[in-house]
Amino acid sequence: MKIHHVGIAVKSLEEASGRFGDLLGLEKAERYDLPEFGVSALFMPVGDSNLEFLEPLGDASTVGKFIEKRGEGVHHICFEVDDIEASLRDFAAQGARLIDEKPRPGAGGHLVAFVHPKTTHGVLVELKQK
Ligand code: CO
Repeated sequence: MKIHHVGIAVKSLEEASGRFGDLLGLEKAERYDLPEFGVSALFMPVGDSNLEFLEPLGDASTVGKFIEKRGEGVHHICFEVDDIEASLRDFAAQGARLIDEKPRPGAGGHLVAFVHPKTTHGVLVELKQK
């Protein structure tokens, strides 16, 4: 298992990716519009992992509400797993509250699912299948 990415909620993908790109010498990678998640996402590789910048799409966006309430900042951590269905069963069996009972297609068409921060010490956890 590895940390696939750290998701960061920002007001502007361009500004945030420019800033981190300059500070750390990172190259921008793919950008995805994910209307079903209410965000545009831009990935910047960092070694084997990535930063995922998230800019809200529209007022109903959960990332938009996150920024409104808490300001820009770290939003979630994504763990890459071999078998997301098995991981979700494990999480549920251990009392973790699942936001997504079933995985759904995320950036690049990979299956993802979110786990509620209430049962993971305040951290919104994303699972992503390899
Ligand atoms: Co993510």
